[in-house]
Amino acid sequence: MREGRDEAIDRRRLKVCIIGASGKLGRYMVQHALDRGYEVVAVCREKSAGKLEAFAGRITVLPGQTNDREVIRRAVAGCDGVLAVLVPWGVHGYSTGTAQAVLDYAPADARLVFSCGWHISRDGRDLYSLRLRALVKVFSAVGRLTRLLDIRDQEEACRRVFASEKRWTVVRGSDLEEGESQGLPVWSRHVGDPILESNTTRRIDYALFMVEALVDDGLIHEAPAIVGCRTPSALANGPGATRER
Ligand SMILES: NC(=O)c1ccc[n+]([C@@H]2O[C@H](COP(=O)([O-])OP(=O)(O)OC[C@H]3O[C@@H](n4cnc5c(N)ncnc54)[C@H](OP(=O)(O)O)[C@@H]3O)[C@@H](O)[C@H]2O)c1
Repeated sequence: MREGRDEAIDRRRLKVCIIGASGKLGRYMVQHALDRGYEVVAVCREKSAGKLEAFAGRITVLPGQTNDREVIRRAVAGCDGVLAVLVPWGVHGYSTGTAQAVLDYAPADARLVFSCGWHISRDGRDLYSLRLRALVKVFSAVGRLTRLLDIRDQEEACRRVFASEKRWTVVRGSDLEEGESQGLPVWSRHVGDPILESNTTRRIDYALFMVEALVDDGLIHEAPAIVGCRTPSALANGPGATRER
């Protein structure tokens, strides 16, 4: 999926804000962005800033809650792109707060790329396995009971992104695993497509897809569900294939 790539943007040094930079996905995204020579502004919780120590001197860190509107406002100022990790921690709209602040404060022409899981559906045409439906139900119930997380918050965050006219992409991750990069994941518009059947992506490659999306205009207003490019289902259904159902 490189036809839509914006070569003009690609040639200059992008300024990119990474929200949730201290997490596992976040740190991979920081590395990929630095590998491309991008300027990186990282937002992470104050107590997690130490996790970005390896990047000291190469990135700007703005410590703060990732749903703090004032922190986000400062962080995204002048950015060409924003990469936001949406995780529905707690029961007070953490993901929604992050998404709304990014939508409100990112420059009008900035590329906005958000992460979430396959369980988020843009148009209701995804076909979910029994296993995934059961997992979402259990996580929702346990999360609400313990007040640790609220999956409805991530759903609301994505609803707001989908309704926005900004230049967004919502990248829906499969189950994740660690390991060396296998290359850019392949994607489909709908879960249930055979290409996604293997349901596994290396986390480092999820981050690669997020960072690549910044310069791929073909992904604007898309919610790609991704899977590793070397997984059996990706290999069986054609490299780089984008399927519609
Ligand atoms: N894990 C999976 O199998 C999976 C599958 C599909 C999609 N995804 C998506 O991938 C993205 C990253 O997920 P991940 O599992 O790889 O996690 P991750 O990168 O480790 O990210 C977790 C994020 O949540 C923050 N966080 C952790 N505890 C928190 C708390 N109590 N309050 C506020 N923030 C807290 C972390 O910040 P600190 O560094 O400050 O702790 C970090 O920014 C998410 O959007 C997720 O929906 C994950």
